[in-house]
Amino acid sequence: TIVDRPLIQYAVDEAREAGIEQLIFVTGRGKASLDDYFDIGFELETTMRGRGKSLDALAPSRSGFGEIVSVRQQQPLGLGHAVWCARAIVGDEPFAVLLPDDLMVPGALKQMVAAYEELGGNILLTEEVPKERTASYGVIAPGETRDGAVEVQGLVEKPQPENAPSNLAVIGRYILQPEIMEVLDTQEQGAGGEIQLTDAMAKLIGKQPFHAVKSGSERHDCGDKAGFVLANLALGLADADVAPKLREFLDR
Ligand code: G1P
Repeated sequence: TIVDRPLIQYAVDEAREAGIEQLIFVTGRGKASLDDYFDIGFELETTMRGRGKSLDALAPSRSGFGEIVSVRQQQPLGLGHAVWCARAIVGDEPFAVLLPDDLMVPGALKQMVAAYEELGGNILLTEEVPKERTASYGVIAPGETRDGAVEVQGLVEKPQPENAPSNLAVIGRYILQPEIMEVLDTQEQGAGGEIQLTDAMAKLIGKQPFHAVKSGSERHDCGDKAGFVLANLALGLADADVAPKLREFLDR
């Protein structure tokens, strides 16, 4: 939970805001609560209605009929594998990938969809990171920059700083073409023995347009302990109900 809603809600809101109409959750065992959260909360709604309370607060967590489809990744074999698990649902259309642990404020996908409408092909989100942090990210070998979009000439997953082609890291948002699924069909393992999305994307460079847009959003890495606390702090300070108490605590 970040302030008053689960992290997944932020990703779903960001996707909806960018015009995405169908959401595919790739989850694992024990994560059924994610699907339940977006279902109709019958007991809660009935109770609230009975007490004359507004249901407005529940609206974002109510999915439309057929809006959310869920698929299991039965083993954690890598991000590329997770994406590949959705291949039958994605079918033959371009699609976006959002890694909800990268919380972007404001949502970044809308900016990427605008770039996609100009450039087509594949669009990544990028951010400059300190050179010593490259081993935590997919890193871009950049070509020319035009209208804020960097041409992607190469991609390396989690390189050591001395081998990194730049300090432009790939952030957890992608717009991809369906051909990536055919590359992922080979199930080739990369960094950390995992089936990497980065490696599959690298194989399509030169065959399809590939660009990265520089993020104009603030990123909170909620997969990191400090990042998670900082996300709560940043969004708490932006919440009129929570901010006064937070400030009081921080000032002591
Ligand atoms: C994944 C990707 C990596 C990307 C990162 C963004 O890594 O493999 O290329 O830079 O997400 O958050 P993970 O954070 O899952 O290790």
